[in-house]
Amino acid sequence: MCRTCIDYVDSYSSLLLLALAGLSSAQFSPFSTGGRPGRVPLRQPCTAVSARVDLVSGVSNQVSGAVFFYQECPDHPVMITGRISGLSPGKHGLHVHEHPNLTDQCKGAGGHFNPFQSPHGAQTNGIDSRHVGDLGNIEANFDGIAELNIVDDIISLFPGEADIFRRSVVVHSDRDDLGKGGNEGSLKTGNAGMRLACGIIAPNNSPRCS
Ligand SMILES: *[C@@H]1O[C@H](CO)[C@@H](O)[C@H](O)[C@H]1NC(C)=O
Repeated sequence: MCRTCIDYVDSYSSLLLLALAGLSSAQFSPFSTGGRPGRVPLRQPCTAVSARVDLVSGVSNQVSGAVFFYQECPDHPVMITGRISGLSPGKHGLHVHEHPNLTDQCKGAGGHFNPFQSPHGAQTNGIDSRHVGDLGNIEANFDGIAELNIVDDIISLFPGEADIFRRSVVVHSDRDDLGKGGNEGSLKTGNAGMRLACGIIAPNNSPRCS
């Protein structure tokens, strides 16, 4: 789904932005405040992007499911939803890996997507202490089902260094220790274990907008 998004900015910075962009005043209405005093809606030249991942088997032939990514504008967070089944109850590391290559039981996906050469860490960490691909843990219930509902400020579906499009998602056998395991592996992989399932981050139904 591609649609124009509207951001609210204060009137001063929007005037400045419009002046810098050389836009005509016809595209800017100082009278419509969107119910927020001093703030005006600014129509931004961006469209929402969504992606989906259909998981295929890695070392497990029981894990399946889909993961969805959605981002309204380049400076907005990415919403991650989805449902994965066939897991053992408890936590499992979930990461974006570098390559869109699922062969050799997901090993073709390579390492965690880490364009800034940061150490591995928690999803809530800043960019200097997590890989872009570090999405933390998902938690499966006693039926082995994990419902995903993650908001992430680092990954992006828009062109740029943190763009995860055409990379892959891997679900791991173990809990990600989030870089706090006190050993070398912890700062690389979170000791999240084997690759249960993986999938390529592909456009969701509609062509990708930019
Ligand atoms: C995919 O990954 C496998 C396993 O690591 C590797 O042998 C193969 O060359 C990769 N394919 C491509 C197109 O990179």
